[in-house]
Amino acid sequence: MIKRVRAHHLQQFKKERTPITMLTAYDAVTARIFDAAGTDMLLVGDSYGNTMLGYDSTIPVSLDEMLVATRAVARAVTRTFVVADLPFGSYEESTSQAVQSAIKLIKAGAAAVKLEGGERRADAIRAITDAGIPVVGHVGFTPQAENSLGGPRVQGRGSAAEQVKADALAVQDAGAIAVVLEMVPAPVAKDITAELEIPTIGIGAGVDCDGQVLVWTDMAGMSDWQPKFVKVFGEIGAALTDAVLTYNEAVRSRAFPEEKHTFLE
Ligand code: KIV
Repeated sequence: MIKRVRAHHLQQFKKERTPITMLTAYDAVTARIFDAAGTDMLLVGDSYGNTMLGYDSTIPVSLDEMLVATRAVARAVTRTFVVADLPFGSYEESTSQAVQSAIKLIKAGAAAVKLEGGERRADAIRAITDAGIPVVGHVGFTPQAENSLGGPRVQGRGSAAEQVKADALAVQDAGAIAVVLEMVPAPVAKDITAELEIPTIGIGAGVDCDGQVLVWTDMAGMSDWQPKFVKVFGEIGAALTDAVLTYNEAVRSRAFPEEKHTFLE
């Protein structure tokens, strides 16, 4: 078992055809659990905005908010490779803005940063990489661009496959250590995975990617609705509701606290 997953291990996993597991995490409590369970990579995703902060998209998430979540996750883990998302507005203006923002996330404890976009973000990926910071790319459906993409839609159907492939290749050529493929037809993701030297991490991109990532609240049954590509691996939302209902009832009926929970003197 690898003691601490580092960037070069991702390459090794691809070579050995060992599937890479990745989940999102936004706080120390869950990060500790996911780390202890042997998850290879944790993504402090900007999905923090929809899942935890009550925003209706990732667009309002600020770099300061990402820094708080990144610090919490980084402090909690011992083995997993922590990747933090550069939020919308923190890297698009110039390569120096991108580098400055990435440095802040690394100082907060991330081992790498992730940013969205392929060919059009190659300069930013190259500049951050040149600053000594590992970068994970993200192509296909990119949630920060949902307004220009017309909402969450599969990217790369038919002739559009060529653009997704070009984006993935541009990300690799710019120096990225891995790339997330989101909502891409499985055969396109398979071709990209075969062509690239860096690992592909799929979300809604089929079984042939080098790894898989899910938003933890989706896979743990904490969301009201899940996209087609999500599998619910546990009903944590229902278990939590049961626990809270039982607690409320116990307090109201004075069944809690019992004598064993009480200081008698
Ligand atoms: O922010 C996030 O959770 C992500 C995943 C969807 C890959 O970017």
